[in-house]
Amino acid sequence: MTEGKKKTTVKTSPKEKNTEEMVTVFIMGKAHKVPSKATIMGAIEYAGYQIKRGAGCREGFCGACATVYRLPGDYKIYTGLACTTLVEEGMWLSQLPALPAQKAIYDINKVKPDVTAFQKFYPEVFRCVSCNTCTKSCPQDLEVMDYVQAAIRGDIGKVMDLSFDCICCGMCAIRCPAEIVQFNVGLLAKRLYGKYLNPKSKQLDKRIKEIRDKKYHKGYLELMKMDKKKLEKEYYARDSEA
Ligand code: FES
Repeated sequence: MTEGKKKTTVKTSPKEKNTEEMVTVFIMGKAHKVPSKATIMGAIEYAGYQIKRGAGCREGFCGACATVYRLPGDYKIYTGLACTTLVEEGMWLSQLPALPAQKAIYDINKVKPDVTAFQKFYPEVFRCVSCNTCTKSCPQDLEVMDYVQAAIRGDIGKVMDLSFDCICCGMCAIRCPAEIVQFNVGLLAKRLYGKYLNPKSKQLDKRIKEIRDKKYHKGYLELMKMDKKKLEKEYYARDSEA
C-alpha cells in the first residue's frame, strides 16, 4: 500500500457526498476522515493510499485483503477482509498485503491419503491446543478448528469438506498459538481427496478425452476470432439448463 493521489472507490453522488457522515479511522497509524459507510478498502483508497498488493476480487472471494484492526475501548484484536468489512468510528487498522506462511512442497502422486500426509508436511497440526482462535478469526465462518482436528484423525474427507470454502486469506494462521497454517492443511486435504478419494466421473474422463482429441478445437478457434458483440450473442443463444 502506498500513499498516492487521493482517489475514492466509495460510490456517492456529489449531493450525497455533502451530507455524508464521516468517521475517523487510523490507517497505518495515521488519522483519516472517511465516509462512515465505506469498507476498509474503500476507506484506505479514500484516504489517498493506492493498494498495489492486497486487493483482488474486491467482493470477498479471493482472500487477498486480510486486515487486522482494533476498536476503541475494546482490548480485542479483530481480523476481517478489507473489501467487505465496514469501517467504524475510531478503528485502528493495518492491511496485510501478503502473509508469510509455511507451505509444503510435495508431489501429490507420492503422498498417501491418510494421517501420515499431515504428520510429514504439517506436523504442527498435532500441536493444536483446541483454543478455537482460528475459527473465530475466519471471515468465512468456517469451522477451522474442527478441520484441524479432522486432520489429526486423518479424516481427509472431513478436512476437505470443512475447508472447502476457504479463500486462503491467512487470518486463522496469524492468530494460531500453535503456528499451524490451517489453510495450507486444507489445501493438502483437498488435493488428496481429489486425487485419491473422490469418486471418478466417467463423464469428466470422456470430456477430457474429447478435448485432448481436439473435438472442440475448430469451435474454439472460431470463438477466438469473434468480437465482443458476436460473443455475447453466441453466449446468450447457447444451450443451458433452466
Ligand atoms: S479483495 Fe478479494 S477478498 Fe477482498
